[in-house]
Amino acid sequence: MEPNTSDSAQHSESKIRNGEALIKLEGIIKVFFTDEVETHALSGIHLEIKRGEYVSIAGPSGCGKSTMLSILGLLDTPTEGTYILNGNSVANIGMAERARIRNREVGFIFQSFNLIGDLTVYENVELPLTYRGMDSAERKQRVHEALEKVGMGHRVKHFPSQLSGGQQQRVAVARALGGKPSILLADEPTGNLDSKNGEAVMELLRELHREGATICMVTHDPRFARYAERTVHLFDGRIVEESVEASNQ
Ligand SMILES: Nc1ncnc2c1ncn2[C@@H]1O[C@H](COP(=O)(O)OP(=O)(O)OP(=O)(O)O)[C@@H](O)[C@H]1O
Ligand SMILES: [Mg+2]
Repeated sequence: MEPNTSDSAQHSESKIRNGEALIKLEGIIKVFFTDEVETHALSGIHLEIKRGEYVSIAGPSGCGKSTMLSILGLLDTPTEGTYILNGNSVANIGMAERARIRNREVGFIFQSFNLIGDLTVYENVELPLTYRGMDSAERKQRVHEALEKVGMGHRVKHFPSQLSGGQQQRVAVARALGGKPSILLADEPTGNLDSKNGEAVMELLRELHREGATICMVTHDPRFARYAERTVHLFDGRIVEESVEASNQ
């Protein structure tokens, strides 16, 4: 079966342009309004992420890390500010367009894995590709490729409940990879894992980064923040510091 040519062309193009800004946030403000209470979750974020970069977001509970990741991943919209993703202005687009771009550009990895319990490993990884309207032969190739990459090719028929936490997270990584997104976004991907499995998932992300993936990861754990090239420190909805990991300089 011929690969989807427009998709593979887009993928190789993104490799060629490594080092250019993939993401640009300017003056991003997010205010939540609930019961007459205003929560200023983000108060003027400026951030650029280049193609091929591995950035971690650190900071205390409630400082706005998940809010920022939701905006980056087009799960939520900013109250104010501009967001350029892969050359497109995406801060104020409608829901349908947002969902379409999200499906193509973004791969998510969540703390709680978020696999669908009554779908097999294979079906979980396949689902976002089905939403995209990809034909079944290409879906099959992508699913197998992604599961092999995370070392879960031998568990296609298992259900999530039949896997360890570390294995579930590896399947979630495969699901994120299947669509060959421009960026992988991970919110505390090791939060529900013991240290051994956590390290294995971190090694996997580092390997994907070496192969060219652009990654933005939220983590509480300074040991894991060091896996990234650059750490952005948030406090009360603002970027207060950026540090570059010595081994990556
Ligand atoms: N949907 C929402 N409605 C109202 N307030 C919200 C909502 N989501 C987040 N907030 C508030 O915005 C602030 C930032 O929350 P966020 O979840 O981004 O923090 P975080 O840095 O990810 O924290 P944690 O490390 O605990 O996950 C918090 O004060 C939170 O209560
Ligand atoms: Mg959070």
